[in-house]
Amino acid sequence: MAEICRLGVLISGSGTNLENIARKIEEGRLPARIAVVISDREEAYGLVRARKHGLQAVFVDPGSFPDRVSYDRELIRILRENEVDLVVLAGYMRLVSPEFVEAFRNRIMNIHPALLPSFPGTSGVADALAYGVKVTGVTVHFVDEGLDTGPIILQEAVPVLPGDDVESLHQRIHEVEYRLYPEAIRLFCRGRLRVEGRRVAVLEEEESR
Ligand code: GRF
Repeated sequence: MAEICRLGVLISGSGTNLENIARKIEEGRLPARIAVVISDREEAYGLVRARKHGLQAVFVDPGSFPDRVSYDRELIRILRENEVDLVVLAGYMRLVSPEFVEAFRNRIMNIHPALLPSFPGTSGVADALAYGVKVTGVTVHFVDEGLDTGPIILQEAVPVLPGDDVESLHQRIHEVEYRLYPEAIRLFCRGRLRVEGRRVAVLEEEESR
């Protein structure tokens, strides 16, 4: 790994997790650098947030590629050109191809707004609420070929309160995300995560040397 951990952040939407990570880095609380931000949606507000923080931010149009594989090849090219150590999916709404997973095996993270393996997919908050669970939460995991199925790095529970709607619950989930995602990235960048089959061991500082 390069001296400072280089991140490539993939987004599709608002990008508050991206901005939170950028802020933590600026405040010197996360020893990493965002080398590039890529969006698959031109109107993603995360692109505006990224540029506000002086980051290189690009829109790559899925419409200009014949299929997912060729689109992902372009992303792999950009991420490699920027010497990215870790790919951070932050509200990226596309399923990445097996080739993409292979290119960055155990170096792609995702954050999901539920306690996996419950409520995978794009509406984890609404699905948990509709099911009537009393506790949901946040999962940070490595990305494999499945949908939200990769080895789990960190999880934290969030209670569902009486009267919650999707917005209020998602807001409290977001607060937890803003702590958990930088923490998982920090552990990765310090070499403290070891994938052993489905399990991710979090090593003590001295074990990682
Ligand atoms: C987050 O809740 C994350 O868990 C999910 O998408 C949402 C992205 O939010 N994958 P934002 O774009 O970072 O605000």
